[in-house]
Amino acid sequence: MSAGKQPQVISTGSEIYTAVSQLRQAGKRVGLVPTMGALHAGHLSLVAAARRNSDVVVVSIFVNPTQFGPHEDFSKYPRTLDRDLDLLGTQNVEIVFAPLPDEMYRAGHSTAVEVSSVSDVLEGPLRPGHFRGVATVVLKLFNLAPANSAYFGLKDYQQAMVIRQMTSDLNVPVDVQLCPIVREPDGLAMSSRNVYLSREERQRALTLYRSLQQAAGDVARGERDAVKIMASMRRMLAESPGIVLEYAELADPQTLQTVEQISGPCIALIAARVGKTRLIDNQLLNP
Ligand code: PAJ
Repeated sequence: MSAGKQPQVISTGSEIYTAVSQLRQAGKRVGLVPTMGALHAGHLSLVAAARRNSDVVVVSIFVNPTQFGPHEDFSKYPRTLDRDLDLLGTQNVEIVFAPLPDEMYRAGHSTAVEVSSVSDVLEGPLRPGHFRGVATVVLKLFNLAPANSAYFGLKDYQQAMVIRQMTSDLNVPVDVQLCPIVREPDGLAMSSRNVYLSREERQRALTLYRSLQQAAGDVARGERDAVKIMASMRRMLAESPGIVLEYAELADPQTLQTVEQISGPCIALIAARVGKTRLIDNQLLNP
């Protein structure tokens, strides 16, 4: 890791607002990359995209409590701020916004952003309140750091669609850019949660990617029956020891409604538990 200059760390809302507003007034293009930290190459690909299109890159690091369910991993979510700052220094990131929960959610905070429709399927029913928490914190970040553009990963495909919908519906003046999934050499999608996996679970987790590959292969060979493809994805995951499948769906890439017949691009999405770790992955299928 080449030693870069560490970014300036800002922890209050008023300071980040002033800093970004002044940059904008000075004619600088500001790119924002919202994260929860525990950074890996997936996050850094968003930073690189922001770097290409911006004069100043702001990365936010905030483990947002409102997007975690009561039995989810908020308290044990990996927090590696010092390492994250070193990594962002090597990418020449100028500013990190790292607020404490009390700064983002003052006592009496009582407003939330609810995006219906695209939030109501897949992850929605399995993680009640999750997308409300995501949409709310992302709008707050957009307001606190009024950037020209903001960068999100397609790894969290449904989240990306929720954020696009929210930004469009609420006329938020930020250009939302979506970046491809970054994978480990063997295909596992990079995730901050991969550190929870034991060596054996790490091997088992590859079945998520393999079943997406299988679906892509089926489509490439001319299969257009989405119900059949979903059935074989589910079979592959169900037969894999140590994996508990939550969903494996083929959906319309915009609405995320399940498709039965493939007549255009569709997206294959999976959520599964490998041991105690919940993983998601997806792949666009182009007939
Ligand atoms: P986090 O999981 O830290 O992810 C931050 C961003 O990195 C998201 O846009 C996510 O899609 C992207 N990302 C993660 N893994 C990736 C990979 N393997 N390839 C490409 N991009 C990847 O997503 C969140 O945080 C939060 O919900 C947040 C949007 C910050 C709101 O709290």
